[in-house]
This record gives sequence, structure tokens and C-alpha cells, in this order.
Amino acid sequence: MPLVIDNPSDEACSLPECIEALAERGFDADDPASTDAAAWWLRRLANNRTFLGDLLVDRLVGRGGEDIASGYGPQAIVLSRPRDNRPGAAFLRAAIWPSPRDHVFQTSGAASFVYGAAHDHNFDFLTVGYCGPGYASDYFEYDYDAVAGYAGEDAGLRFVERSTLSPGKMMLYRRHVDVHSQLPPESLSVSVNVMRLDPAQGWFDQYGFDLERGTVARLLNPHASEAFLRVAVASGAESALDYAEWVGMAHPSDRMRLASFEARADLLGDPAEADALWRAGEVSGCRMVAGAAQARRTTLAAS
Ligand SMILES: [Fe+2]
Repeated sequence: MPLVIDNPSDEACSLPECIEALAERGFDADDPASTDAAAWWLRRLANNRTFLGDLLVDRLVGRGGEDIASGYGPQAIVLSRPRDNRPGAAFLRAAIWPSPRDHVFQTSGAASFVYGAAHDHNFDFLTVGYCGPGYASDYFEYDYDAVAGYAGEDAGLRFVERSTLSPGKMMLYRRHVDVHSQLPPESLSVSVNVMRLDPAQGWFDQYGFDLERGTVARLLNPHASEAFLRVAVASGAESALDYAEWVGMAHPSDRMRLASFEARADLLGDPAEADALWRAGEVSGCRMVAGAAQARRTTLAAS
């Protein structure tokens, strides 16, 4: 499960001070000194009991706060933007966790807030319970390198414990290691995160998991290039088909390879032709494509 960080302090800082410090130092979870420093600034910010309320009121009455954004939908408030795109740059985010008593929970439903949707993360982040009792999670761990990433694959999840991000509790969520399925808090809660930004992270999978089956359910972070490839292939352009064929056999990203096979298979009305394509996928040398191909061929045979 995420590493619990015990760094008690009575010191507090302002939001601009925290933003400035993180901009200077960044956050690299692979470097203990960097993690300690980022966690220390997050502790000081969490000790400032008024910064978030003040910021939101300023925004509501038009007194400022234009810098904050809800780039992740209404559940997250981006409190700072990274100054540049270098690996290890960091930004601050507040995450909002409605309870079943909240109107937005009743109207939008639990799934809108990822409750009960087991997932890992393709980035490291620090989190602290800022206000409210905090969400609970069932925590699991798994071996990212042992997973190819196709839907239905056994993920080898190992249950660790159920625990709550109570007020003041700070944790480091490790990329590709920690998996959690969240339960709503008893009342509205907010956590504050230091998020590590890595320009390459879009190429590393984030998965949703099926806890009943213990399998990978789906990719949670499809790359825009996958969508471009699917649309290009669907257009029927010959250049797109040629390119997709190369992608299917040789692209460095497994997800691009799988997208290529799926896009080309969607064009084939004849089950025998689709089976031949997936048979090529099975022996393409890519575990993700091979796993998906096996499942597709089983479905084709059954129909
Ligand atoms: Fe999460």
C-alpha cells in the first residue's frame, strides 16, 4: 500500500510559498531527499487551515484565484501549474471526495467519483487528508512488469489492507505499484496532493482492475496517438493501412500495436479474415497483442 509518511510539524506556510518551493525543487519519488522535502512542504501547507477556503471564496466573489483550474473535472482543483515540462516537475492539486449525503453524489452517482473503481496510477504522488474524515480504500499491490496489460489478464493483485486517509495522514502513492478501490467518506472530504509530472508518463499504462476476477479490466489512459491511428485506419486511406501494418509489428508502444490490430480488425466483416489477422497478432512478439488476440480468436470461434 502507499507508504505512510510520518513528518509531524507545527509549521505552516502559504500556498504561494509551497508553490515556489516545489517549483524550485520538483518532486522525484525515486529520490528520498526530494520526497522528504516535498512531503515537508505539503505538511506545512496542510497545517494552513484556511488557504483552500480563502482561495475558493476569492474565486467565487471574483477577487482572484483565476490561476486555479478544474482540469480534471469537478472532483479536482489544480492549485498550481508546473513551470515547465521537465521530468520531476511538480504541481499541487486538491481532490474533493463527496459523501453519499452530498447532493452531487446523489445526482451523479458513486461511479462519477471513481468510488469502487480499482485502479493504479502511472505517476507518483503525495497526498494528505486536509479536511473531512477522508475516503477509505481497499489497498492492493501488483507487479507492473509482470503484466502485459490486455483486458482479462490475471493481474496478480495482492490485498494489503483497508484504511482511511484520515485528517493529517500523509501517504506516498507509488506509480505502477499501489492499487486502490475507494469508498466514499462519511462526509465531504478534501485531500491535497503533490503530483509528479513526467512528459513520458502518457506512454506508461494506468489500469482499471476487476477485483472479482482479479484481472486487468481496461486501460485508463489511452494516448491521443491511439485515437489518431484508429480514425486514420477507419478512414480507409491506403497510407493509413500501410502505416498501421508497420505499427502493429514494430511500434515501441504495445498499446499502439494493439490499437493497430483492433482498428484493422474492425474493418473486416469476414470472421475468417479477422481470425487470420488476430492469428498474426498472436505471433507478433508483443505480449499485450498476443493476450488480446487469444481472447478475440476464442470469441470468433464461439460465434
Ligand atoms: Fe487513485
